[in-house]
Amino acid sequence: MTQERWDGIDRYISDHLLEPDPVLDAALKDSDAAGLPPIAVTAPQGKLLQLLLRLARARTVLELGTLGGYSTIWLARALPADGRLVSLEANPDYAKVAQANIARAGLDRVVEVRVGPALDTLPVLAAEGAGPFDAIFIDADKQNYPGYLEWAIKLSRPGTLLIGDNVVRNGAILDPLLADSHSSEEVLQGVRRFYEMVAAEPRLSATAIQTVGSKGYDGFALALVDAVE
Ligand code: SAH
Ligand code: DHB
Ligand code: MG
Repeated sequence: MTQERWDGIDRYISDHLLEPDPVLDAALKDSDAAGLPPIAVTAPQGKLLQLLLRLARARTVLELGTLGGYSTIWLARALPADGRLVSLEANPDYAKVAQANIARAGLDRVVEVRVGPALDTLPVLAAEGAGPFDAIFIDADKQNYPGYLEWAIKLSRPGTLLIGDNVVRNGAILDPLLADSHSSEEVLQGVRRFYEMVAAEPRLSATAIQTVGSKGYDGFALALVDAVE
C-alpha cells in the first residue's frame, strides 16, 4: 500500500462523508500561506474528533497544540453554544494565524488560545480553577507527552475523554530506524513513556489505534478516566 492510495482513500472518504467546508479549507490555506507546517489532523480525523466529543456530550475541551486552529475548529464545533475550548500553543505566530481562522469560523467566543509552552500555561490554568474538562486533546510537542498526561489527569473528572495524537510515528515507537525527520530520539522516548504511564495509571482505561491516510502512518490513543477507590 502506498501513500498515493492512502491519499486517494482519504479523498474518497471526504467526498462521501464530509460536507464541503470553505471555512476549514481557508484555515488550511491561510496556515500554509503563513508558513505553518502541514501537520494538522486530516479532515476524516477532524470529523472523528468531533464525533467523539459529541458522543461524550462534551461542553468543555482542552487542546494542547493549536497550530493554525484546524483541529480546534473541528473540536469547537462539537460543543453547545455555551461550550468552552481552551487551546494551548507555544508559538505566538502560529497562535495569531489560529486566532484569525477561529474568528472566521465564528468560534472566537467559544475558543480561547493561550500562548506559551504548555508546561508553563497548564499550571496557570489549573491555579485559575479551570477544569475539570470533559475532553482533552493532546497534540503538542511529543517529547512532553508524559508531562501533558499528568496535567491532563489533574484537569479531568471520572468520564473525561483523553485523546493523544501521533502515538505510532510510522512505527518508530518499535524501531527508531523507521523514524521520519520529525521523530527524534526524544520524541520517541516521550511517546513510549506516555504509553508506560497510561498503562500504570489505574484511573485510565485506554487503547491506541494505528491509522493510515494522507498524513502517512501514525495512530492515536484514546483513554477514559475512570473513578477509582
Ligand atoms: N492540533 C493541530 C496540530 C498541532 S501540531 C491540528 O491538528 O490542527 C503541534 C503544535 O504544538 C504546533 O503548533 C507547535 O507549535 C505546538 N507546540 C510545540 N511545542 C509546544 C509546547 N511546548 N507547548 C505548546 N505547544 C507546543
Ligand atoms: C507531525 C504530525 C502531527 O499530527 C503533529 O501533531 C506533530 C507533528 C508530523 O508529522 O511531524
Ligand atoms: Mg498531531
